[in-house]
Amino acid sequence: MLLLRAVTGRRLPPLPLPRRPCSRSPTGSPAAGGRRGAAPVLAALLGLGAALAYGERRRRVAQAAQAPPPPRFPLYTREDVGRHRTPGDRVWVTHGTEVFDVTDFVELHPGGADKLLLAAGGALEPFWALYGVHNQPHVLELLREYKVGELDPQEAPPAPADIRDPFAGDPPRHPGLRVNSQKPFNAEPPAELLAERFLTPNELFFTRNHLPVPAVDPETYRLRVEGPGGVSLSLSLSELRSRFPKHEVTATLQCAGNRRAEMSRVRPVKGLPWDIGAIGTARWGGARLRDVLLHAGFPAEREGEWHVCFEGLDVDAGGAPYGASIPYARALSAGADVLLAYEMNGRELPRDHGFPVRVVVPGVVGARSVKWLRRVAVSAAESPSHWQQNDYKGFSPCVDWDTVDYTTAPAIQELPVQSAITQPRPGAAVPAGELTVKGYAWSGGGREVVRVDVSLDGGRSWRVARLTGERPVPGRAWAWRLWELRAPVAAGTELEIVCKAVDGSYNVQPDGVAAIWNLRGVLSNAWHRVRVTVTR
Ligand code: MTE
Repeated sequence: MLLLRAVTGRRLPPLPLPRRPCSRSPTGSPAAGGRRGAAPVLAALLGLGAALAYGERRRRVAQAAQAPPPPRFPLYTREDVGRHRTPGDRVWVTHGTEVFDVTDFVELHPGGADKLLLAAGGALEPFWALYGVHNQPHVLELLREYKVGELDPQEAPPAPADIRDPFAGDPPRHPGLRVNSQKPFNAEPPAELLAERFLTPNELFFTRNHLPVPAVDPETYRLRVEGPGGVSLSLSLSELRSRFPKHEVTATLQCAGNRRAEMSRVRPVKGLPWDIGAIGTARWGGARLRDVLLHAGFPAEREGEWHVCFEGLDVDAGGAPYGASIPYARALSAGADVLLAYEMNGRELPRDHGFPVRVVVPGVVGARSVKWLRRVAVSAAESPSHWQQNDYKGFSPCVDWDTVDYTTAPAIQELPVQSAITQPRPGAAVPAGELTVKGYAWSGGGREVVRVDVSLDGGRSWRVARLTGERPVPGRAWAWRLWELRAPVAAGTELEIVCKAVDGSYNVQPDGVAAIWNLRGVLSNAWHRVRVTVTR
């Protein structure tokens, strides 16, 4: 039986398990109440901006002025909380000394119901330590809407080991990086440095981590290669280096969320507010995935739908690794240049970028280039990973968090044509005379960038920028082109500089963000616009 005492110490009869009231629904209908009523909660947990949270807070402050005194909550032991681990038994969690019934939030959890259920019956802190996005006052405030009790003061606090910082072992980083989230670490170089060099220095290459960086001992590291029919292979790092020819590929990696911040300005989206720097180019060195798979006994071609799945050594609190997959044909194609890379720009892979071995899939969204690779598996199905199934997919602007169905959209693989202005920066005051505009341009699938158009008047008139660097091998244009335009500009004018790239299939970037807006803020590739003032 639950231990139920009021905060005053008075012993209470057992309470029925609390249920969320439906009154939060604007329509008053219980069905709508479950989802629509939770929309502000979801929105704020998604980090959808202070505006919504602020409006909500003001509404609550106004209500509080007329509301009766706050309720006294019953007391529970940790054992009591531990009995509530499934939606059938109601899902309870604790934070500090407070107890919450989050059953009705489980399906709305932005990171997936399965992730929230990992904390069921116990403390949130160890999980929030892993997913730092939760450690914000408005998240805590909204969690309080689900409060059902207090922990009995006689309960011991959780053992310190349970809340130790899982990111304590992350590597040191370059101070010049613009950090979008510290834990997990996500950062991009300052835009003005991005197109300064064709190869992005390792220290300034954007980092996109979902979890803590694993510490890997290169001496004991093993890469497992598995597939149907009992095919299996286990390779040490030195075997990977010595048994397969080293292949080098210069390739650009771009995160699906690059330029998400521009999408959020149209309407809030869920995700880190990347500027234009979630992209970089490196010379990657390693074994071809094709060579390793052929060596393991897989055929060069396969009938039907097959995939090659990758797993990282970085695991979430429930032990699930980061994972992703690519089609078998790409993995086995001699022309696709997919690597099991152990070098980046002539040095061993840095820890943030996948030491000791990562996949590099040229021309494909960065999410499939799995870092800290521990397993390669040939399978008839795509990777079951959250990041393949329920993330990194594109949707129509009309799809929202109430209607989204991840099973209906394909996982992003090749990315669309992209370009951005790295110099000058938005809001800059540039001197009259000759203005130099610089940027990058890139397209997925090995499609070459054939032209970059630049406008200084918001898109009314255009000039063609000069592409720098070597022309790539047709069909294998894995690396970006940097570009430059010099033009005279008169003092006292305001310029809206715009760029758009055209690839070898004559794909061109869309002119506005609104028509490609999607709730996750991915595939943001509209014309890039930068406003500057010309001074004397
Ligand atoms: N691999 C693992 N194991 N864990 C991750 O979090 N992030 C992916 C991909 N591979 C990730 C991963 C994403 S979303 C991107 S964009 C690229 O790595 C980023 O690679 P980088 O950090 O080396 O730039």
